[in-house]
Amino acid sequence: MLRRLHHDQPESFAFTPANLEWAKAQISKYPEGREASAIIPLLWRAQEQEGWLTRPAIETVADMLGMPYIRALEVATFYFMFQLHPVGSVAHFQICGTLSCMIMGAEDLIAVAKEKIAPEPFMLSPDGRFSWEEVECLGACTNAPMAQIGKDFYEDLTTERFAEIIDELAAGEVPVPGPQNGRYAAEPLGGLTSLEEFESGRSQYNGSVERAVRLGDTIKRIDGTEVPVSAPWLAGGRRVHVSAKKTPAKKAEEQPAASSAAKPAAKGGEKPAPKAKAKPAAKAKSAEASAAQPAARPEALEAPRAGGADDLKQIKGVGPKLEKLLNSMGFFHFDQIAKWTDAEVAWVDENLEGFKGRVSRDKWVEQARILAEGGETAFSRKVKKGGVY
Ligand code: FES
Repeated sequence: MLRRLHHDQPESFAFTPANLEWAKAQISKYPEGREASAIIPLLWRAQEQEGWLTRPAIETVADMLGMPYIRALEVATFYFMFQLHPVGSVAHFQICGTLSCMIMGAEDLIAVAKEKIAPEPFMLSPDGRFSWEEVECLGACTNAPMAQIGKDFYEDLTTERFAEIIDELAAGEVPVPGPQNGRYAAEPLGGLTSLEEFESGRSQYNGSVERAVRLGDTIKRIDGTEVPVSAPWLAGGRRVHVSAKKTPAKKAEEQPAASSAAKPAAKGGEKPAPKAKAKPAAKAKSAEASAAQPAARPEALEAPRAGGADDLKQIKGVGPKLEKLLNSMGFFHFDQIAKWTDAEVAWVDENLEGFKGRVSRDKWVEQARILAEGGETAFSRKVKKGGVY
């Protein structure tokens, strides 16, 4: 199927402050130079925010990750989970049309969709609330025919039940996902033929449906406020490295970034993650060390010793840019880093412009001690083999 960007695109895109904070936390999970690894979650979050994936959103995400636009576009057009056209504001129905579902009546379901939603795939219903498309196998063949609605699977569908589901959603209800014919999960249609003794003790719904009902997010869009940011290391106001390229989106993110720095990791009155509790102390320590900067600055060298500088990239978390930065600060050797005291670590953490907090986050001193003694870490072995840079 040809997947092209929609002909009608909005002027711009910017993450909401909550989504931007979430996005930065995702990026911070990856080491320097590997920020592009966060592309799928970021594109997904942009889609959740807007309802579909716009060109400005793809380009904004590419800028944040320091990627050429074409690379981000490749990802967005490859995965069918990314909607490149506007979809229904309430629900988009993805009807499986592959073999098992086709044999079991997918074409009849599509006929229902054409009649009740819109005559063509990706065409919005007259009220703009629904849309549909035919997709390839979604891996629920035993429960064919099926459709994915929002985030959940509706299985063992009949035309009558499918029509009812559309009506229920139109009435503001969210039907329970899973098998729609009374089947518990994917057992034989005639009932269990083995492990029958477990039938009486099982919960009301199978595991997937149980979770779907508990989360209640079948057709709900994530807006960035539901899940605490799972990056406790950001709680101390440490910045996440994003591309330095200046774009309108980049400018737009500056304001929220500042507010993110002032906030604790958890939001909305939720309890902070256990690690986050330790951060204020670390921050205080860091601030203390900052106050006594001259005394805590580690001893530096003007140039590497005879024999040349060590390959600092063997320390996990130090990429080519950070290595250059460290060298410019007078740090060339593992044994220099291995000797840093807590106050010195705090000083370097505070003074790594663009990479604040990396020394303690990635435990450079522990790694440097091993490397300074001629030892190896799993990461340094990979670097030596050329598997990283
Ligand atoms: S064929 Fe439809 S889910 Fe596999």
